[in-house]
Amino acid sequence: MVRKINTSEKLRTTLPLGDTDSCRLVDGAGDDLPGIFLDDFAGRRLLSTTAPTLSPELKDWAISLAPSITTYWKHLDQQAREAPSLVAGTELTEPFEIHETGVRYLASFQAGYSQGIFLDQRENRIRVRDRCQAGDTVLNTFAYTGTFSVCAALSGATTTTLDLSQPYLDWARENMLLNRIDAQSQHFCRGDTFHWLRRFARQNRRFTGIVLDPPTFSRDHGGKVFRAEKHYGELVSLAAACLAPGGWLLSTTNCRRLPDHGFRRMVAEALPSHVRLESHPMPPDFTGDPYLKTLLVET
Ligand SMILES: C[S@@+](CC[C@H](N)C(=O)[O-])C[C@H]1O[C@@H](n2cnc3c(N)ncnc32)[C@H](O)[C@@H]1O
Repeated sequence: MVRKINTSEKLRTTLPLGDTDSCRLVDGAGDDLPGIFLDDFAGRRLLSTTAPTLSPELKDWAISLAPSITTYWKHLDQQAREAPSLVAGTELTEPFEIHETGVRYLASFQAGYSQGIFLDQRENRIRVRDRCQAGDTVLNTFAYTGTFSVCAALSGATTTTLDLSQPYLDWARENMLLNRIDAQSQHFCRGDTFHWLRRFARQNRRFTGIVLDPPTFSRDHGGKVFRAEKHYGELVSLAAACLAPGGWLLSTTNCRRLPDHGFRRMVAEALPSHVRLESHPMPPDFTGDPYLKTLLVET
């Protein structure tokens, strides 16, 4: 097993990841290691397994790398959603900085089940950065720690970062500051995406670009449920009503129950027939199940 891990790690060093210190080193079955995932966050490692306990072999391997490499472990369990625990090395008591294609973000192994940045969205962040220019207005829905907003703002866009959670919006503000973006010039909005999309449409507020990356399942404060496989089309229609002429949508989902063609059909059916849909694969360090689907929609 350790030999296979070393081989997958070596493979990542050959990938053109640019000025990036964080990536997936082992991607389960894609690296012939089903159920085992290893992410590098600027030298700190997160081992994730579908097995509920860490095998002695993996534990011994992590210990053999310490103290120079710190390794945390988490059980991939969407129900329990427990924060990672330390396996070997130095305990991380503070959030820390990572670099991705020259952009800085705060990551944390103490903030809960997720680490503040989804590494599988790296190329979509680059897409947003490339697509934006000064004068654009970009709405980042389900924004989490605002990584898409940072990329849009770095290209000169004025961003609106929208999320249900105030702590995540505060984190997004910190990510802006880390990149010397004046957070005062950007908008942060706490609330439900569906509510705000309807409200923006009523107010005639229009955006040059909108990022849609919802969780597969969510319940707003009023108890209303969103399931990606059922309601994604509705979300796209609401967003389309808030787009300026010639605007774009970045539509993504990690919903494994939605196949590529089903996702594409849902998005296409929610939009006028003349729009262009461009499909994009996952980043090259994600060699396993291509669960993340991306459509860049040009209207
Ligand atoms: C899957 S993450 C989004 C990841 C993010 N797009 C990124 O790439 O960093 C889910 C986020 O959606 C937020 N969220 C869930 N339901 C929401 C809703 N109805 N309206 C706004 N935000 C919501 C959560 O608070 C969480 O921050």
